Amino acid sequence: MHQFTIKNGSTPPRSSVTMSASADSVPTTVDNRVSPPQEGWADMLFYSRKYDRLSDLPHYEGNKYTDELMQNAKLLSTEGRGILASDESNGTCGLRFESIGLENTEENRRRYRELLYTAPGLSEYISGAIMYDETARQSTKDGKLFNDLLTENNMLPGIKVDVGVALIEGTNDETYTQGLDGLSSRTAEYYSMGCRFAKWRAVVKITDDGCPSELAITETAHSLARYAQICQNNGLVPIVEPEVLSDGTHDIKKCAEISEKVYNAVMNQLITQGVLLEGMILKPNMILEGAQSEGGPATPEEVAYHTVRTLNRTITPAVPGITFLSGGQSEERAAANLSAINNMKEIKHPWTLSFSFGRAIQKETLLVWDGKDENIKASHEKLLSVCKAMSMAGKGKFEGGLSEDSSYVANYKY
Ligand code: 13P
Repeated sequence: MHQFTIKNGSTPPRSSVTMSASADSVPTTVDNRVSPPQEGWADMLFYSRKYDRLSDLPHYEGNKYTDELMQNAKLLSTEGRGILASDESNGTCGLRFESIGLENTEENRRRYRELLYTAPGLSEYISGAIMYDETARQSTKDGKLFNDLLTENNMLPGIKVDVGVALIEGTNDETYTQGLDGLSSRTAEYYSMGCRFAKWRAVVKITDDGCPSELAITETAHSLARYAQICQNNGLVPIVEPEVLSDGTHDIKKCAEISEKVYNAVMNQLITQGVLLEGMILKPNMILEGAQSEGGPATPEEVAYHTVRTLNRTITPAVPGITFLSGGQSEERAAANLSAINNMKEIKHPWTLSFSFGRAIQKETLLVWDGKDENIKASHEKLLSVCKAMSMAGKGKFEGGLSEDSSYVANYKY
């Protein structure tokens, strides 16, 4: 098991993982399943120990995972790396397979995920992969569990823990996200299986007749924070995903206005419910015009301005990383926007701004694979080239050259 040194610490190790520490320090409780993240995380732990311990604050009392959550959240937000969202439910996976005429069987889903996770050198660009429950229990054809494969290759295994959306009765077809019942035991099981982070997607829509309602926003914020708190108590870094859908005729300013309201409500609940902000990741939409808007697509600079300003007005600097969803944008547009976001100098931002893309990473790789083993090498090359481009975008250095085919689907379900 890899060992590394941190500058200070004060409590004995809790997990089976051992760590070495420097002369005047003692081992920490940090779970060290993968290499340490970018510089600075150890300093963060050091200072939090020197002046106070987050775990001693009343609202973190009893959470034995605080250091580990902070380290893993920081690791997931390493500059130049992003998250591979590969947690499509079986139904959604089937829709993807339709594009290549592949039967939606458990074995084909396993083959596809093996293809993604075995791309050589993927961890240079990818810090973690989100899986669906079925996937988190599957293995390579040689019998290695995907959880172990990812961990050994320096990527954190993650798990989707929501169970989809359902109607909020009495609203204009607005939805809430299901999955809080039993979440504590499910997240404890996922932790024991090796998962170290989780995802929960909540969606709100913008319509001309007044959506989102206050009720939908309140429900979204409250359930995201409940989920986050439960995950953290069981050792999983929560990815908090409030998605303002791009369906609609609205312009980019409307998206900014609504997103600001939603993120503000979410942040408020995260604080109110005592979520360890240093131990979570935010996964928001980029601020875009509506998919049916008449004005045409906003430029990357406009997207960057509205996105960074909206986040800047709502999300505390204690959150280490923000990883955007792609929301049906083409690979090219998602990368160009992410790059412009990272080049936005006019508005300061304290977080790493990266990606947690599903469609905008996988679309072309799936087409190259075409369900055939003889295409695995070519599809690995495609996947790595897309991830490398996204990594460049995460540093503000994307130079173009990706597919411009949109993956937009109205009223998208994950
Ligand atoms: P897209 O990047 O395809 O929007 O999906 C990411 C995701 O995880 C949505 O929940």
